[in-house]
Amino acid sequence: MTTSTAPLPIQACSPAEAAREVAREIAVLIRERRAAGRMAVLCLPTGRTPLGVYDELVRMQRDEALDFANVTTFNLDEFLGLPPEHPQSFRRYMRERFFARIGLEPTHTWIPSGDVAPAQIAAHCAEYEREIADAGGLDYALLGIGRNGHIGFNEPGSARDSRTREVRLHEVTRADAARAFGGLEFVPERAITMGVATILGARRVRVLAFGADKREILRRTSEDTPGPQVPATFLRGHPDVRLLADGAALGR
Ligand code: F6R
Repeated sequence: MTTSTAPLPIQACSPAEAAREVAREIAVLIRERRAAGRMAVLCLPTGRTPLGVYDELVRMQRDEALDFANVTTFNLDEFLGLPPEHPQSFRRYMRERFFARIGLEPTHTWIPSGDVAPAQIAAHCAEYEREIADAGGLDYALLGIGRNGHIGFNEPGSARDSRTREVRLHEVTRADAARAFGGLEFVPERAITMGVATILGARRVRVLAFGADKREILRRTSEDTPGPQVPATFLRGHPDVRLLADGAALGR
């Protein structure tokens, strides 16, 4: 796959419509895979944007007998320096917002470890890549987008061929997290993220963006020459990518 100037396919829809559409696609994937005796491998984000998708998948389990027994998940990222029980850890977010609600086995959910010893971080990241490969690769990557154009925690400057690794968080990312942490000084400075190439390896990629504060970065994601200055621009080279965004984010 080469870096492409192709436009990013866009679907304008409300947040509720986007949640239903993405959850429906995921449910179809899970059922197709189960019929074939295989696991469905999902790449999942945290943040505000995917909450409607998680709610809709919980509803589908309850009302439509959607069964998650054949699902493996890999999260995009985790703050470094946070134990799993920390209120702002992505491990805790995922358990409370999604995994515990659907009874997903912890052995089927992979999240980079926030409290891995510094000397072990590189090995931990390499192991994460191996686990994704051993699972057969990512079938479906669900992404949000940062106001600085990050995907996962691939901050501005991230290379197209980057893999799972330790990163220094960008000032915009830390500022956006400050409220949840109760102050900028409590926001970790470093994180582990899946790489751009890891994400682009997913067979299908769906990006969600809602609200006027995403408008400028969506414009740049669509119009800038693809490059590390806005990592989300690399998505334009993917063969099966779609952005689902509301009118406020699209400036319509
Ligand atoms: C979170 C992640 C980030 C977020 C992005 C948008 O796991 O990977 O890239 O998707 O920062 O966050 P929200 O949805 O809170 O606007």
